[in-house]
Amino acid sequence: MKVLVIGSGGREHALAWKLSQGDRVQIVYVAPGNGGTATEPGLKNLPLTDPVALADFCQAEKIALTVVGPEAPLAAGVVDAFRKQGLRVFGPTKAAAQLESSKAFSKAFMKRHNIPTAEYDTFTDPVLAHAYIDQKGAPIVVKADGLAAGKGVVVALTMSEAHEAVDFMLLDNTLGVSHNAGLDGQAVPRVVIEEFLQGEEASFIVMVDGKNVLPLATSQDHKRLLAGDLGPNTGGMGAYSPAPVVTPDVHARAMREIILPTIRGMEKDGIPYTGFLYAGLMIDASGHPKTLEFNCRMGDPETEVVLPRIQTDLVELLVAAADGELNKVNLQVSPQTAVTTVLVSGGYPDVYEKGKVISAFSDQVEEVTVFHAGTATLNGQVVTNGGRVLAITALANSLENAVRRSQEAARTVQFSGKQYRKDIGLDLIRYAD
Ligand code: AMP
Ligand code: GLY
Repeated sequence: MKVLVIGSGGREHALAWKLSQGDRVQIVYVAPGNGGTATEPGLKNLPLTDPVALADFCQAEKIALTVVGPEAPLAAGVVDAFRKQGLRVFGPTKAAAQLESSKAFSKAFMKRHNIPTAEYDTFTDPVLAHAYIDQKGAPIVVKADGLAAGKGVVVALTMSEAHEAVDFMLLDNTLGVSHNAGLDGQAVPRVVIEEFLQGEEASFIVMVDGKNVLPLATSQDHKRLLAGDLGPNTGGMGAYSPAPVVTPDVHARAMREIILPTIRGMEKDGIPYTGFLYAGLMIDASGHPKTLEFNCRMGDPETEVVLPRIQTDLVELLVAAADGELNKVNLQVSPQTAVTTVLVSGGYPDVYEKGKVISAFSDQVEEVTVFHAGTATLNGQVVTNGGRVLAITALANSLENAVRRSQEAARTVQFSGKQYRKDIGLDLIRYAD
């Protein structure tokens, strides 16, 4: 069987790596892929990004299954294009992907279906937005409506930060909010302003086939650049699985109060949800989860710790999910702990250079899996090609070993300007004490 993964990050390398372990899999194409998927046995990069060109390729090559990694092609309707040609694909339609691509859509959806989330209001008029901030006070959270590659959220600790964020998002319009026309065809910048929530965050990722839901292993990522959760927000500097903050009670609540009402709500609203669904949870001190956001895809770097723990053939899971038969599968998850440390380019998350040669590591680093994110191959060498460069995952029986191996490998791999967090997973060890 031939399969296709769409995307080029660490998440897609991990998906392709796991898929290639399937008994029935001959080859995994990755479009467009990266330096890791270019060199890994069993995987082949495909230099295509246009949805119709990809669908044509799948017809011609008889690709049995396609899985879409990132949000941008989903929000652009790649699943709709594939389904129109009768191709098997796992991911949400353009309409369903609005749960991520429009914060205004997802907040209104949650309100309508009584799904716990921060109190909020939506604004296109800056005067009204400023008045709302004056009325509510700080801390308060300002979010650009559209996809903004992780840069569209300002957690404002002071009123002036909040006012600035509104001006930036509504007046300067530099975040590209106006590109998110939405299904209503309106291309106006819009912000959601919401209540500041406190607690501990976790990533709750499930597979959905329209009706049935399969929760994957729990995980937690580290979004801040610097140790101790300090510094600017990034796409993710590391992650671990399982996330002990998601106790069996929190898990049951998240399923009952958030995930199932979301799937039923989407069905009721006439836009049934298929694909990975990722609820970013904020869990308060008494164990009540609220939804910070929905993503219509797996998390990155959460994928790099969730998939290594999955023992069931991923191809079987995805085929069942795409065919509406998730109720027929049985998910086996390893009890081991997975920790991933992300190596990023110097200067990231702001301006950074590309093209730095990455030292050969396969012979130096044992017992870890190196997932490539922003890398490319150039004259037979692997070079940096993005902000997040590699995610180094260790899977071990003990927490300590998983943390130590991931850290050791992160230290060993070299490229000019390398930055990484030296505390990924250390909070886990404290948690267990
Ligand atoms: P989002 O993209 O909506 O998940 O927001 C990115 C990050 O901002 C989250 O991971 C949280 O750390 C933080 N955040 C978002 N919304 C809130 C909120 N209502 N209260 C506190 N922190 C938030
Ligand atoms: N790790 C956060 C995300 O994938 O959105």
